[in-house]
Amino acid sequence: MAVCDYQIGLEGIPAAQSKISHVDGQEGILEYRGVSIQALAQSSSFLETAYLLIWGDFPQEAELEDFKHDITYHRRVKYRIRDMMKCFPESGHPMDALQASAAALGLFYSRRALDDPAYIRAAVVRLLAKIPTMVAAFQHIRKGNDPIQPCDDLDYAANFLYMLNEQTPDPLLAHIFDICLILHAEHTMNASTFSARVTSSTLTDPYAIVASAVGTLAGPLHGGANEEVISMLEEIGSVENVQPYVDSLLARKAKIMGFGHRVYKVKDPRATILQKLAEQLFDKLGGDKYYDIAVEMERVVADRLGHRGIYPNVDFYSGLVYRRMGIPTDLFTPIFAIARVAGWLAHWKEQLEANRIYRPSQIYIGDHNRPYIPIEER
Ligand code: SDX
Repeated sequence: MAVCDYQIGLEGIPAAQSKISHVDGQEGILEYRGVSIQALAQSSSFLETAYLLIWGDFPQEAELEDFKHDITYHRRVKYRIRDMMKCFPESGHPMDALQASAAALGLFYSRRALDDPAYIRAAVVRLLAKIPTMVAAFQHIRKGNDPIQPCDDLDYAANFLYMLNEQTPDPLLAHIFDICLILHAEHTMNASTFSARVTSSTLTDPYAIVASAVGTLAGPLHGGANEEVISMLEEIGSVENVQPYVDSLLARKAKIMGFGHRVYKVKDPRATILQKLAEQLFDKLGGDKYYDIAVEMERVVADRLGHRGIYPNVDFYSGLVYRRMGIPTDLFTPIFAIARVAGWLAHWKEQLEANRIYRPSQIYIGDHNRPYIPIEER
């Protein structure tokens, strides 16, 4: 391969052929299996969307009922996983706890039969069912409390909020949270999905795949940006401070968290929907001064960087929604992971359908023929 073929960050290089999702970054279009994100956010549920992503078609009513039933049935995690989490330091980040717990599932479900559709379905069900339980469990364990067991009467989103707060959530909050999960479920060849596909290509188990993807999602340039946005809004503190804050970041050539995207050169359509959800939530629960700061920030950044295609991404408004729901900031990225498990598993399945191990090349730019120098002569 010639040196001119190399693109730092693999920008513009296709890493797979995929039918799972599509982004048009100029028009601000996102589709899952050809269905617009707006239609799914309006009418679907997270589990129906996960089914669509993973199996390629909307489920029939009975298929969806079976899928929901099986996920509800598998929500509990083994006491040994909970005991393992009790050994984690309480100061540890919940994304690290999730990565370790997801990997640990592989110890308990070690049978691997990648050519058996029943095995694939069981692994999908188990991961979608147990990841939220593990996120909520660590939240209680790190405070020295016992985890709250899942509630079989509640659907996916409501059950997660219940496990977090030991209280059945308001239906509007549960509905908004479910839409947030839909919005975060999949997004073409982002870094964590690429990681999932590379790991899948070695024919390892799905727990290792999800663990590798969780580790990738955690970074502040990817899913971790949603936490950083809230720290930034808190640091800004008032609408008047937005402009000097943005200008000082730009003067230092620092990145503004929650803005910019490799693919979108307009406002991320998920950010538009999340902003509306934030407004719905504030109508119900009362306003939030951080929302006013965020809106002003969007205006100032558009003024300074809009001509370069830098607008809010999915991580900009999501944190404001979760914060108003009373969710701790360091759970925002684990919540992103709960949703993205659907996309990672869809890519796992697609990768297996036409697998070849990922093994790109590199352009070696180091030395050759260096002599070995004995340690006493260095
Ligand atoms: C997610 O890929 C996906 O699909 C990811 C995701 C998903 O659903 O999976 O959408 C989720 O990860 C959202 C992104 C969350 N990250 C952030 O909000 C962090 C802040 N954003 C940036 O660091 C950045 O925009 C990235 C990481 C999102 C994209 O990085 P790129 O494509 O490598 O772009 P770049 O860093 O090379 O920036 C290109 C130019 C630079 O200017 P020049 O050096 O050319 O002069 O744009 C500038 C950058 O400085 N720029 C920014 C900026 N983002 C880009 N300048 C200030 N603030 C920003 N946020």
